[in-house]
Amino acid sequence: MTRAGRRRGAIFGGMFGLLALYWGVIFAQDAATTAEVPKKTLTVVPVVVPEEFHVVMTRMQAAKAKIQLQHMDLLKQRYDLGDHPVDGVTMSRKKAVQGQVRSRLPDGLTWEKLSAMDPAEIREKDLFPIGFLPLPHPNHPEGGMLFPKFHIAEIKKQEARDLTRFDLDYDLPDHFLPEFPPLMFLTTRPDLGDVSQGKLVTMDNFQELLGGILNPKQLEGVRLLVSPFMQQQFNQTDDRRSIRPSRGVTCFDCHANGHTNASTHLAGDVRPQDVRHRLDTPTLRGVNIQRLFGSQRALKTVEDFTEFEQRGAYFDGDPILATKKGVNILERGSQVHFMAEFQELLDFPPAPKLNLFGKLDPNLANEQEMRGQALFFGKAQCSICHPAPYYTDNLMHNMKTERFYKPKTVSGHRMIGDGPIKSFPLRGIKDSPPYLHDGRLLTLDDTVEFFNLILELKLSGAEKQDLVAFLLVL
Ligand code: HEC
Ligand code: HEC
Repeated sequence: MTRAGRRRGAIFGGMFGLLALYWGVIFAQDAATTAEVPKKTLTVVPVVVPEEFHVVMTRMQAAKAKIQLQHMDLLKQRYDLGDHPVDGVTMSRKKAVQGQVRSRLPDGLTWEKLSAMDPAEIREKDLFPIGFLPLPHPNHPEGGMLFPKFHIAEIKKQEARDLTRFDLDYDLPDHFLPEFPPLMFLTTRPDLGDVSQGKLVTMDNFQELLGGILNPKQLEGVRLLVSPFMQQQFNQTDDRRSIRPSRGVTCFDCHANGHTNASTHLAGDVRPQDVRHRLDTPTLRGVNIQRLFGSQRALKTVEDFTEFEQRGAYFDGDPILATKKGVNILERGSQVHFMAEFQELLDFPPAPKLNLFGKLDPNLANEQEMRGQALFFGKAQCSICHPAPYYTDNLMHNMKTERFYKPKTVSGHRMIGDGPIKSFPLRGIKDSPPYLHDGRLLTLDDTVEFFNLILELKLSGAEKQDLVAFLLVL
C-alpha cells in the first residue's frame, strides 16, 4: 500500500469509527432509557434519517396546521395580542410601540393583589401569570430557526433565496416585532445617521450602501455577515426543512441591519430537548460596550461568538451533524476578525433626551420621565443591574423565577427556572421587542410588571407608568 493509500485508509477507518461510536452512543442510550431518564436519547439526533425526504415533508406538512393552532391557542391564553400602540411613541424610524401589560392574570386577581403575595404563596397557589413563564418555541420538540414573514419576503425579492420552512411558520404578530428594516448607525460616522438608507442590507446592495464609508476589511466583514451558510434546517441534504435544497442563512437574516427582526430558535447549549430555552435574537447595536455574549453562554468576545455561532448554534451544538450538512468554518485571522470589527461599529440609536452620563437632561425630559428616572435609580433598584450610561452591568444574574412556580411542562417545554442570564443593555430598548432572552414579554409595561413582582418591589400603578415612560426614552 502506498503512503497516500494508507493515509486514506486511516481517514476512512477513523470516520467509520466515529460513526460507529455515534450509533453506539444512540443505541446505548436507547438501551439505558428507563422511566427515570426518559429524554436521554434526545441528546443526539440520528445522522442518517431513516425516512425519505418526501415522506418526512409530507408528514410534517400534514401536521403543520394543528401544531400552529395549538401554539396560537397558547399565545392567546398567555397574552392580549391586540394592537394597542402607545400614543405618540414610535421606534427609531416610525413603527408604533405597543403599550399596556399583555400578560394575562389568573382569574379574580389584580396586579396589586398579586404583588402583595410572597413568592411561596404564588407558587403554592399556582398564581404566577402564564405570560411570565418561559415562552415555548412554536414547535418545541422540533425547534430550529424561524424567520418572520416580512423578512422571508424581502430576502426572496432581493436574493431569490427562500427562508420558508415547510413544517412551521413564525408565531408572534408583526406589531410586537422590531421595525423592518431597522435603521443602522455606525460609531465611526455619527454624522451620517442611518447608513442603511431605509433598505435591508444584503448581498445585493452592501457594496452600494456601505462601499464609501467602510474600509476594505470592514466591508469584507459585512460581506461575510450577509453571506448564506449551511444550517440545521436550511441546507442541501435530505435532512432539512425547506422544500428545495437551501443556500443557507446569513447572520443578518436574524440580526437584520445589525439589529434584530426577532427571529427565533432554541439554545444549542442545553439538553435534553425539552429544557432548551427559546431564544429571541438580540440586537447587535452596542455590542462594543458589552463584555458577555449569549444569554447563558457568557462567551467573552464578539470574535468568539462569531466563530462559534455557526459551529454551535447553527447545528444545535452537534458537530457531527454540522459536518454532514456542510458547516462553514470561519478562519479566525482573516474572516472572524473582519466580521467582529464591523459588528463593533454598530451603534445604539440616538436618545436625544440623555446627556453624556446617560441620564435625562432636565431641560428636555418631562416630569413623568424624571419621576421614572428617580424610581429606576432609587426605590425600584433597576440601576443595580442596569447602571447608566448604557444600562447594563455586563454581568449575569439569576432571578430565581422558580421561586414563583413549580416545574411544569407546557407544549413540550419543561420549565424549571431560567438560571443566570446576562443583563441586556436597556439603551434603545423600545426598538427591541419582544423582551427577555426568550421574548416572553411583549411590551415594556410587561417588563415593569415582571420586575415589580420578581424583585418584590410593590410599586404603585402610577410608579409603574413612570418607569415605563423612562424606559421609552432610553
Ligand atoms: C436564527 C437567527 C440567528 C442567526 C442566523 C445568527 N444569530 Fe447571532 N444570535 C441569535 C440569538 C438568538 C442570539 C442569542 C444567543 C444566546 O442567548 O445564547 C444571538 C447572539 C449573537 C451575539 C451575542 C449578542 C449578545 O448580546 O449576547 C453575537 C455577537 C451574534 N449573535 C453574532 C452572530 C453572527 C456573527 C452570526 C452569523 C455567523 C449570527 N449571529 C447569526 C440569533 C441568530
Ligand atoms: C438583579 C438584577 C436585575 C435587576 C435589579 C433588574 N434587572 Fe432588568 N434584567 C436583568 C436580567 C438578568 C435581564 C435578562 C433576563 C432574561 O433575559 O431572562 C433583564 C432584562 C430586562 C429587560 C429586557 C431586556 C431585553 O433586551 O429584553 C428590561 C426592559 C429590564 N430588564 C428592565 C428592568 C427594570 C425596569 C428594572 C427595575 C424595575 C430591572 N430591569 C431590574 C437583571 C436585572
